[in-house]
Amino acid sequence: MNLKSQYIASENRYADSEAMYARCGRSGVMLPRISLGFWQNFGYDTPYEKSRAITHYAFDNGITHFDLANNYGPPYGAAEELFGRLMKEDFAAYRDELFISTKAGYDMWPGPYGNWGSRKYLFASLDQSLKRMNLDYVDLFYIHRYDPITPLEETLQALVDIVRMGKALYVGISRWPLDALKVAYDYLSARDVPPLIYQGRLNLLDREPQEQGILDFCHDKGIGFISFSPLAQGLLTDRYLNGIPSGSRMSRSGSLTAERLTPEVMQYLQKLKAFAESRGETISEMALAWVLAQKGITSVLAGASSVEQLSMNIKCIHSMPFGDIDV
Ligand SMILES: NC(=O)c1ccc[n+]([C@@H]2O[C@H](COP(=O)([O-])OP(=O)(O)OC[C@H]3O[C@@H](n4cnc5c(N)ncnc54)[C@H](OP(=O)(O)O)[C@@H]3O)[C@@H](O)[C@H]2O)c1
Repeated sequence: MNLKSQYIASENRYADSEAMYARCGRSGVMLPRISLGFWQNFGYDTPYEKSRAITHYAFDNGITHFDLANNYGPPYGAAEELFGRLMKEDFAAYRDELFISTKAGYDMWPGPYGNWGSRKYLFASLDQSLKRMNLDYVDLFYIHRYDPITPLEETLQALVDIVRMGKALYVGISRWPLDALKVAYDYLSARDVPPLIYQGRLNLLDREPQEQGILDFCHDKGIGFISFSPLAQGLLTDRYLNGIPSGSRMSRSGSLTAERLTPEVMQYLQKLKAFAESRGETISEMALAWVLAQKGITSVLAGASSVEQLSMNIKCIHSMPFGDIDV
């Protein structure tokens, strides 16, 4: 490796600690209010140096939590591989300052054992993830989605055993309906492995976790909550105010389609823009701050395709309070 490219983390990375960290539910873990997601912008379709610069910027500014999954890429596994390279070349000295999560639950490899929530799949997948990421353990392992067929107890016992074996320090639940989450909480807590955190989508355009009582349940039980896609994949920014720019997520990936840009959404975005400006903020900064202001939220799990976006978004930790204003 070229010595000049050796990464040394900023000495000031914890200068803003008071605003940056929040306790995750009733656990001993502090998480950054804004965390970095590796779903997009960390696959083979993004130049390595670009992804690398985003992670450096994040860690240099106190973002200690990186969120991965077995199937992030493209192709599947690529984001974990990229992270494994970063871990080896840049972050080896900082392992104990990082809080790394990964997940399993979606289709990962062919055949009956590469998907959903069986013990067989979860064990194999986590072993593969650890190898790709050059890690001995992850800080947090999630079941990525609800499996309506596998007995919940099988999935949950696998999570318990993964912790007992030291392959993960904590477990999390992603996108489970409230009834199943309640079963998970009881089962895991009875075995002294309470769920650390719930990962769900909460943003100004999608308030399901609030409407379904998931946020309240997490808050009552001392489970943290981290919101994925807090910017609705970029909709809640100024990205699409004047159409669909080339290079944007809407222009290139299937996960955000042009149908989302309805006249109602466009009108709402104009309203948000005016409101954000009245606060001296950008739409993205305010949209993230709104999520952080909701009861029971530990962190927003933001994506970024550039250092500039992340540097804009990180300002949300210092945003103005909302008071009683309905956004
Ligand atoms: N548990 C689950 O099932 C699940 C599901 C989805 C995501 N996640 C997690 O959540 C993380 C975040 O998801 P997400 O990427 O959808 O989050 P997001 O923060 O809602 O969207 C991020 C995208 O918005 C655009 N953007 C961000 N800041 C911007 C700014 N200041 N100005 C203009 N555009 C901006 C960028 O897209 P472009 O620049 O490319 O347009 C960026 O990649 C994922 O990486 C993953 O870790 C979990």
